[in-house]
Amino acid sequence: MQEELRKKILTANIDLHQLEARYYDIIHCENLNSHEQRRLRASLRACIASLDRSARCLDVGAGTGNITSKLVEMGFENITCVDISAEMLEVLRRNVASPTLRIVCSDIDSFLEGDDDTYRLVTMGGVVHHLPDPQRSLRRIFERIDREGVLFITQEPTKGHNRRGAFAHVLAEGVKKVEYGCYVARYLIYIVLGKLKYLVRGLHLLGLPHRPEGPLPRDGTSLGPRSRLYYSLL
Ligand SMILES: C[S@@+](CC[C@H](N)C(=O)[O-])C[C@H]1O[C@@H](n2cnc3c(N)ncnc32)[C@H](O)[C@@H]1O
Repeated sequence: MQEELRKKILTANIDLHQLEARYYDIIHCENLNSHEQRRLRASLRACIASLDRSARCLDVGAGTGNITSKLVEMGFENITCVDISAEMLEVLRRNVASPTLRIVCSDIDSFLEGDDDTYRLVTMGGVVHHLPDPQRSLRRIFERIDREGVLFITQEPTKGHNRRGAFAHVLAEGVKKVEYGCYVARYLIYIVLGKLKYLVRGLHLLGLPHRPEGPLPRDGTSLGPRSRLYYSLL
């Protein structure tokens, strides 16, 4: 692959993930919805069943910690997280509370060039399709996996092998869309309620009746029924 194109792809990844890091866990409901999270946990559990929890793990393109957090949950302590985006790793640090994590901001090829370790478990969640030369990177990763090691690749965009009937397919797609809608609606509600909270707090600036602290008057006299409702929601 041409060096110029490789650099372009790496830079595009840095720019894209810098932009979306803050919102990644909210907008990527295709990966983070509860069904997919259950599936991910189950398949990860099946793959790591034979591994000792002290095994050295590498989470490639760890992002905001979707897979790292599950490895920590499952008892692994020796985890290296590599990601090209400093902003995604910043969110990972907030999401995953483990003092033993090793966090490296680098593209995976450069990381492997400067690292001699071998790993018992390598995980790659939704990252293969971001790599400039996936075959080359995968070959290098294979070289670093122990003989009894495991490579876990998941959440890659594929056309899939859909053996379900047309009706089941439409139904499953419908359920996914409804769940997506609920996810977005939940965050919209949070945003609206957050704004209302500031509105209610700002009432006193307009000289309107307002009780910034303390319990609500039981009869709601000074606030009126609507303010009362907002208070009980917030
Ligand atoms: C779709 S996100 C997946 C994040 C996480 N694994 C998950 O399951 O949610 C892809 C991640 O790969 C990272 N990435 C992209 N290209 C990379 C590269 N060449 N080397 C290392 N990380 C890379 C991005 O910064 C991003 O955090």
